Amino acid sequence: MTNTHMYAVTIPEFGAADVLRPDRVPLPEPGPGQVAIDVVFAGANFAEILYRQGVVDVPLPFVPGIEVAGSVRALGEGVEGLAIGQRVAALTIVGSGGYAEVALTAADLVAPVATLDLATAAALPSNSTTAFLVLDRVARLEPGERVLVHAAAGGVGSQLGQAARLLGAGRIVGTVGSEAKVPVAERFGYDEVVLRDQVADVGEFDVVVDMVGGGTRRASLDRLAPMGRMVVMGNASGAEDVGISANDLWFSNKTVSGFNLAAFAAAYPADAGRALRRAVAAAESGSLRIDVEPLPLDRAADAHRRIESGSTTGKLVLEVGPE
Ligand SMILES: NC(=O)c1ccc[n+]([C@@H]2O[C@H](COP(=O)([O-])OP(=O)(O)OC[C@H]3O[C@@H](n4cnc5c(N)ncnc54)[C@H](OP(=O)(O)O)[C@@H]3O)[C@@H](O)[C@H]2O)c1
Repeated sequence: MTNTHMYAVTIPEFGAADVLRPDRVPLPEPGPGQVAIDVVFAGANFAEILYRQGVVDVPLPFVPGIEVAGSVRALGEGVEGLAIGQRVAALTIVGSGGYAEVALTAADLVAPVATLDLATAAALPSNSTTAFLVLDRVARLEPGERVLVHAAAGGVGSQLGQAARLLGAGRIVGTVGSEAKVPVAERFGYDEVVLRDQVADVGEFDVVVDMVGGGTRRASLDRLAPMGRMVVMGNASGAEDVGISANDLWFSNKTVSGFNLAAFAAAYPADAGRALRRAVAAAESGSLRIDVEPLPLDRAADAHRRIESGSTTGKLVLEVGPE
């Protein structure tokens, strides 16, 4: 890093994982209400693949990275309650920029980290925060309710099972795409884990969380009990969008909601920050477990390939700099 430039991995053009390029980019300075963070780890996420593929239109070259952990480098005008050098986890999801030595975000989206290691702290801002918001704020999960979660061994799936448990759910069932992932998902708060093609046999649910899409989305709707709520929060399968009949919802007393953390954090930063701090507290108390695998930042393309192939369990994080 120089006084004016820093190391980052950028998206110079849209395309496959090998477009990701190490580069020197201008060092960002925090504006009013912002925090600059010396990044130690950046989470690697499905969302960053969508940016890289051009599914989300962003200006190029673009520094991806929706979450980081590190220490506070500088505070913008008006920021209170954080100190230079403090260890933090942060959502950088609104402007991205996490795959870099220094990242900027709004102070509301920064949470102090006391005891957690920074690799784990970088793995929770997106998926764990989303898990609490999806179940609590969107699905309005009530104690004792039955919950079904797809891709249960994955980054967000591993957090949804545990968040459902912490929020007092009744029966919690996960689905996975392969036998090998069944024992992995079983460690994340699920009462039962089944292969996704067996989902028709697992009964009905008050809340279903779908981030897989396609046929899974349609099958999920069939699993909803009357007054049940399905939250649509991703399309990992890359399938065509699924049309859902409003009249069918009307006749069957079912609800379908959507959730997108980037749009939520932009519109409601204080609420997103509260959910982030709740996730950090749960991880620090030992009641939220996150399986983390670190890789060096210059292997970001490998991380993307592995996430795209659907072969990962838990969470990959990119090591950017020393603590
Ligand atoms: N809306 C939001 O705010 C938000 C926040 C976080 C994540 N998400 C979304 O949630 C999904 C999962 O994210 P994640 O970070 O948990 O990633 P992840 O750990 O890689 O999970 C994705 C999982 O989806 C399943 N999958 C099914 N079909 C797939 C296919 N064709 N290609 C790849 N994976 C496939 C795989 O699990 P199986 O082997 O079990 O099928 C895979 O492991 C993504 O769509 C992401 O965009 C959304």
